[in-house]
Amino acid sequence: MDVYEAIYGRRSVRNFDSVKDVPPELVTKLLEAACQAPSAGNIQSWRFWVIRDPSIKEGLVRAALGQSFIAEAPVVIVVCTDLRACSSGYGTRGTTLYAIQDTAAAIENLLLAAWAEGLGTCWVGAFDERRASDLLDLPPHIRPVAIVPLGYPALARPKPSRRSPLEFTEFK
Ligand SMILES: Cc1cc2nc3c(=O)[nH]c(=O)nc-3n(C[C@H](O)[C@H](O)[C@H](O)COP(=O)(O)O)c2cc1C
Repeated sequence: MDVYEAIYGRRSVRNFDSVKDVPPELVTKLLEAACQAPSAGNIQSWRFWVIRDPSIKEGLVRAALGQSFIAEAPVVIVVCTDLRACSSGYGTRGTTLYAIQDTAAAIENLLLAAWAEGLGTCWVGAFDERRASDLLDLPPHIRPVAIVPLGYPALARPKPSRRSPLEFTEFK
């Protein structure tokens, strides 16, 4: 699949095949793709927690305001950022901006690589950070940015439409 097919084909998946597992080698391959993203000063502030434990997945559902599809995925990746790494490189701009940008770039790579492998994902941003951090026992300098359930799609849904870039773009 070329990059345009992945970009245009990808859509959020919220129904997963409960029988088909995602092998650990494939998860590793996707994380390697995530880590090919650009990052400020190549600091690579992203950090990943790979969750297969059903009770932790249920905890993530509670942290994510009851978004139950998270626990239906065989694998859930919690993508975090290391604020200390960003701070030592770039101070406040590092912790408030680059940390999130680095991680977002890695998340998008992860989503596109997963789609190219026939897997579905959803970028879940609506969650209680404190509850997620407590659940995963994260140290204070690790901030969870997104919860990404990962699995084989059970339902094919149409991709939501997009507005034209011309509506958002100025040419000078
Ligand atoms: C920062 C961010 C936060 C999001 N949070 C959630 C979420 O909490 N729950 C959810 O179901 N989808 C969430 N999404 C997915 C969007 O709803 C989805 O990307 C959007 O509707 C476009 O659909 P598509 O991904 O199928 O193209 C989030 C996406 C982003 C980028």
